[in-house]
Amino acid sequence: MSKLRIIVALDFGSAAEALKVVDQLDPQLCRLKIGMELFTATGPSLVEHLMSKGFDVFLDLKFHDIPTTVARACKAASSLGVWMLNVHALGGKRMLAAARDAIPQGSTKLIAVTLLTSMDQNDLDDIGLRGRSDEIVERLAQLSHDCALDGVVCSALEAPSLRQMLGSNFCLVTPGIRLAGNQSDDQKRITTPRQAILNGSSYLVIGRPITQAVDPLLACQQINAEIAGL
Ligand code: C5P
Repeated sequence: MSKLRIIVALDFGSAAEALKVVDQLDPQLCRLKIGMELFTATGPSLVEHLMSKGFDVFLDLKFHDIPTTVARACKAASSLGVWMLNVHALGGKRMLAAARDAIPQGSTKLIAVTLLTSMDQNDLDDIGLRGRSDEIVERLAQLSHDCALDGVVCSALEAPSLRQMLGSNFCLVTPGIRLAGNQSDDQKRITTPRQAILNGSSYLVIGRPITQAVDPLLACQQINAEIAGL
């Protein structure tokens, strides 16, 4: 597995704001994540521009639709040349299988979101999803694995059990990372980079601790130093 474990979340509303940060980063030290806000505002041209600067891009659009539509969207995203993209595991087995079929294994990494961490027990009750959230996460991660996806997005706190269940080749992509001394912002359950890797994370999605840092490049270097050799 590549040692480039940091994925910087570009949670911005315009290319100009995103590029202000990206211009201070180094593709040898991190990858980049573009979510639905930035992609909706800028379209594929920004993705192509960032790739031309040497960055791997995780296109975080969380596709969730009928299998044919998701398969076609995955194909379109993969043909942009992105490194990673994702779908919702709640779309079910046929949708996950169709997404997998659309993207040859070994090209763009295809991962799934299990349960959104914003969902609490009341939200699950409202939509009629029974069971404890950790059990639902495990079930959806197992389903993603069974459909030959490359991994899932999960909390670093869920990583130890998922790593044990799903083996060493399955990617665990974990947000909710904070450095010692960082404020937690709106994240409820946070983990340091070192602890996340020790828990079994493959890649760390990190937004504000890098994008709002006085020196984003230095923040990347410090995180890489913290996890080097793990
Ligand atoms: O700024 P911060 O490090 O909190 O950003 C985390 C990134 O990870 C954001 O892009 C957020 O949308 C994403 N994310 C998350 N929790 C999840 C899934 C994705 O924070 N469960």
